[in-house]
Amino acid sequence: MDQAYWDRVAGRFDSEVLKILERDRNGTLSRTLRDLASKRKRVADFGCGNGSLLPILSAVFRDVSAIDFSRALLSQAQTRTTDSRNITFHQADLVRPIELPHKIDVSVCVNVLLSPDAIVREAILENVTRALKRRGKLLLVVPAYESLLHTYTTIIQTNVDLGDRRQDAVLEVQAVYEEEVVSPLEGTVVLGTEPTKLHTRESIESAILDQGLRIDRVDRIEYPWSEMIDDAPEDLGAPYPWDWLVLARKP
Ligand SMILES: C[S@@+](CC[C@H](N)C(=O)[O-])C[C@H]1O[C@@H](n2cnc3c(N)ncnc32)[C@H](O)[C@@H]1O
Repeated sequence: MDQAYWDRVAGRFDSEVLKILERDRNGTLSRTLRDLASKRKRVADFGCGNGSLLPILSAVFRDVSAIDFSRALLSQAQTRTTDSRNITFHQADLVRPIELPHKIDVSVCVNVLLSPDAIVREAILENVTRALKRRGKLLLVVPAYESLLHTYTTIIQTNVDLGDRRQDAVLEVQAVYEEEVVSPLEGTVVLGTEPTKLHTRESIESAILDQGLRIDRVDRIEYPWSEMIDDAPEDLGAPYPWDWLVLARKP
């Protein structure tokens, strides 16, 4: 998922990329952002995409740095926020150290640590952390590997409930698993066309602790089943599929 990939996706970003604020069943992300908000604080949205978080960030923080390496997505983000005067856009590769004019109070990084390459993910996390002031906060969202496994077992159980023999239901989902999960140990999956890293809670926590940050809270951002299963039965309930939200701080 390099810059050229994201430039290509830009035209269909809204239909292909999860609209997190709209799909978050419990409003966990917007509540967390509001808890962090202050008109005295500077926030940066690292990997801002087409800017879906920028209106809320602009409304509740003093100023916003919006950073992405895709020029096409940045241009959409600019169009979306023409009325906001406190957003500065930066075209930059987060793998390299980022020069912002100020240190940041709150770093937001939502579904950006997706590369299967651990060195790329570590460099991004390091740069996002370096941009923070002391005692600054990091709000990180990553896709959860446990959620994918939970989805597979839910599909099996749903098909059994609908009358399939368990062994047939397992075999059917096993075939999907073998196609999608290219590295079970690394949590690398191909859900669309690109290999993508999914994170266990322990793996993302240790990546954050490795940056010298302290973890304040880990939450789930829950989504409707329709995000994961086509024609999901209406009565399919909790636990819903989720992303991990981690709130951490620089000592
Ligand atoms: C799944 S999208 C998420 C966008 C946005 N945070 C959201 O939640 O809607 C991932 C974004 O990260 C950006 N990105 C990925 N790797 C990057 C890198 N190395 N440098 C800058 N941006 C990057 C992509 O261009 C894309 O906009």
